[in-house]
Amino acid sequence: MAGGGAEPLPALVNPCVYIARMPEDQPETLLPDDNGLARAAVLLGQGHVLALPTETVYGLAADARSDMACARVFRAKGRPRFNPLIVHLQDIAGAEALAEVCSTARDLARAFWPGPLTLVLPLKAGHGLSPLATAGLDTVAIRVPSHPVARAVLALFGGPVVAPSANPFGRVSPTTADHVRQGLGGAPAAILDAGPCAVGLESTILAPGLSGIRLLREGGLPSEVVEAMTGPLIPDTAPGTVQAPGQLAGHYAPAVPVVMDSDLSEHAAVRIGFTADQAADLHLSQSGNLAEAAARLFDVLHRAESLALARNEPAIHVAPVPKTGLGRAINDRLRRAAAMRH
Ligand code: TXA
Ligand code: MG
Repeated sequence: MAGGGAEPLPALVNPCVYIARMPEDQPETLLPDDNGLARAAVLLGQGHVLALPTETVYGLAADARSDMACARVFRAKGRPRFNPLIVHLQDIAGAEALAEVCSTARDLARAFWPGPLTLVLPLKAGHGLSPLATAGLDTVAIRVPSHPVARAVLALFGGPVVAPSANPFGRVSPTTADHVRQGLGGAPAAILDAGPCAVGLESTILAPGLSGIRLLREGGLPSEVVEAMTGPLIPDTAPGTVQAPGQLAGHYAPAVPVVMDSDLSEHAAVRIGFTADQAADLHLSQSGNLAEAAARLFDVLHRAESLALARNEPAIHVAPVPKTGLGRAINDRLRRAAAMRH
């Protein structure tokens, strides 16, 4: 690392604390032990961004109260500034300090936090978050992760942490530390490596409101599980009213065109089967287990991309995946990957 000169410092930041990173710097690899967790909290406090494991995907974590730290997240991902970030907290009490938590939101939080659920809630006055975290909106997306490493870092740091998925904007999300290294290179100051993520799909995003609960993104908490408690969710599919960029067509895309619902008869392609008994190059699960397929989806897409580039194949073909439970979010991600224009 080298000091000074690389970028202007916002007035909010104490220049004695901030140490600029140079493009050639490589991320430190941190282990999820006492030293690694403590180092992660120190780096967050110094305004750095670091890749952090959560139960869904690896996140690119930074201090949600710091303009400079949030700006560095947008720059590292190449993400447009109008896309707000998710704020990660330790518990419901933390959410109540930042946002108006209505009774529906509280019921959802009690049922599914910690876990793969994000709630979009109205901001409270004096919330203290950087306007970059919320993209200047009057709402904030909040998630309480269940991964013990993410929780330990949140506890040591003691403040709100933004963490979008730790991938370049629009590309396949990372479920291992290697995916982060391949995608973001030296952009994060450190990568806290705790192995593969168990859920493998980003959180489900819900926006409770007066007219019901809007489903902004299918994710690691199947919508049927929520609906069993709340009744029907309101699908947020009206064209032109994109609430979450994760809902954009052409998101989650490998560098090679993706064809979904394929019968895998095309041989000039990298082929991904749903179950191990299908003739294919890669498989999402052994015996058709959707939780296993969800956990493996992004890793299989990363591998298929490398294979296609190495073999000079023009496409990635994916067999049909059932459209229930976690299969909803799997199909959602495949649909968006397939919509990418190359
Ligand atoms: O599982 C996850 O949610 C992961 C892990 C790291 O926690 N994070 C994640 O973040 O997927 P990201 O930035 O890739 O996706 C956040 C989504 C975006 O689509 C964004 O538009 C939406 O949340 N979002 C954030 N704030 C919002 C708001 N106030 N209203 C509507 N959507 C919002
Ligand atoms: Mg993302």
